Amino acid sequence: MTKAPDTSRDHLSEDELLALLDPELLPRHIAIIMDGNGRWAELRRLPRIAGHAEGIKSVREIITLCRDLDIGALTIYAFSQENWKRPANEINALMLLLENYLQTEMNELTRKGARFRAIGRVDTLPSGALSWVRRVERETAHLDKLMLNVALSYGGRSEIVDAVRRLAEDVQAGRVQSESIDEAFLEGYLSTHGLPDPDLLIRTSGETRISNFLLWQLAYTEMFFTPTLWPDFRRREALLALLDYQKRERRFGQVPDAASQGGR
Ligand code: FPP
Repeated sequence: MTKAPDTSRDHLSEDELLALLDPELLPRHIAIIMDGNGRWAELRRLPRIAGHAEGIKSVREIITLCRDLDIGALTIYAFSQENWKRPANEINALMLLLENYLQTEMNELTRKGARFRAIGRVDTLPSGALSWVRRVERETAHLDKLMLNVALSYGGRSEIVDAVRRLAEDVQAGRVQSESIDEAFLEGYLSTHGLPDPDLLIRTSGETRISNFLLWQLAYTEMFFTPTLWPDFRRREALLALLDYQKRERRFGQVPDAASQGGR
């Protein structure tokens, strides 16, 4: 049964929502499946790409919010491996949008102290988009206020396969002893290595699937699903998601008391 939407905070302004947040209980890492761009456009009888373009405005607002709230990491699903099966004109338009975004946004990301990193089988992107990806990665490599991971040509299973393959090479070359492999060690081979696992996953547009996103990293993540379409998911919606997250009791498989000592 679907849960009835919580309307108790509908009358509150963004500032009032912000004031309700407990700064001690903010997620350190947020992951987002940005879904519903196509439906947003179709509802307005616009081409699907108009929905993606509008979705970029939401990306901007959420990056700014994370920066304002000192949330150290944001990982967004911009293009999955499965998305290559979309019509060529949509893929081309999305790649152009990505390229334009990176060109126009590089200075803004730098101003915000955001380090950009692409995760996924990024080398499969068209050369124009790929060279901007690499350029923005280089230019923002020294920044550390916000780690912005953008998943491009990404699949969670292939991320694990790629990690295991590199690990196997290291074992074969004698650089790693198989006995020293544990969860933390394998984590070091993933594209998000060094970051805390996401505390909160947000998926927009009413779908309640993980869709091959961050399969390893989401093991204990709190999930927030909203019917709001991604282009409509702005600062206010994100504040509501954070307030909902702060109501959760995180146990990491333990009983309540032990969990409160071992993390949130
Ligand atoms: C899913 O909506 C969204 C995508 C496949 C692309 C997301 C891309 C952006 C928000 C813009 C590019 C991002 C960056 C960082 C430049 P959908 O098309 O599947 O929507 P639908 O389910 O309504 O059809």
